[in-house]
Amino acid sequence: MGTEALLAAIAAEVRACTRCPLAARRTLAVPGEGNSQTDVLLVGEGPGAREDATGRPFVGPAGQLLDELIRSIGWERRDVVITNVVKCRPPGNRDPEPAEIAACGSYLDRQEAALDPSVVVTLGRHSLQRYLPGARIGAVHGTLRRGRGRWVFPMYHPAAALHQASLRDTLFRDVRGLPAALLQAREAIEAERAASVHDDTDELLPGMSAEPDVATAADGEQQLTLF
Ligand code: URA
Ligand code: SF4
Repeated sequence: MGTEALLAAIAAEVRACTRCPLAARRTLAVPGEGNSQTDVLLVGEGPGAREDATGRPFVGPAGQLLDELIRSIGWERRDVVITNVVKCRPPGNRDPEPAEIAACGSYLDRQEAALDPSVVVTLGRHSLQRYLPGARIGAVHGTLRRGRGRWVFPMYHPAAALHQASLRDTLFRDVRGLPAALLQAREAIEAERAASVHDDTDELLPGMSAEPDVATAADGEQQLTLF
């Protein structure tokens, strides 16, 4: 299955999911959306009121600020994929509970595996804890880190800046570092890949090819599709 079909299949499961108590009080589950060809995955906390009503991530006030942040570096929302650690709204926008995050985690695991992003941008505490357990946002925001086998770029949650004006400047400053962090992550991944190809070459049996695998470039997926 191609990436887009995988993401669509996961989204369909999420929309019907009753794996945790958040299912009972949701209007719509919010699987996530974006470009299945991207290598940038943004992970927030969980749907709010407007997300619950529409089934789309980050479409309320925090989403408007997220859009501004993305546009401030010349990107568009449709250039990335946006999802959350829990796909259903916690009542009254309370924090998701550990059991809910755990129950929902396998969807995010599978979205991640399908996309194989070069960079995961964490938005807020709960997302940060998944990739860098124990890390403090004040210490790591706006820097490229390694966690859970991924390159991770932690940011404050946009909603936090709606309550605390000084964080707005921090968010815009941090996001300005994202394009360079993405290039750095891609280079590191390329270097790792080259090193492992090199290792493989040492073990090649007679007659085996060490050509790069180009099959993925032509698997028929469209650019810029929403799932
Ligand atoms: N806040 C989040 O963390 N996620 C959303 O989708 C919307 C607001
Ligand atoms: Fe299922 Fe996740 Fe929604 Fe819980 S939050 S019901 S695990 S989709």
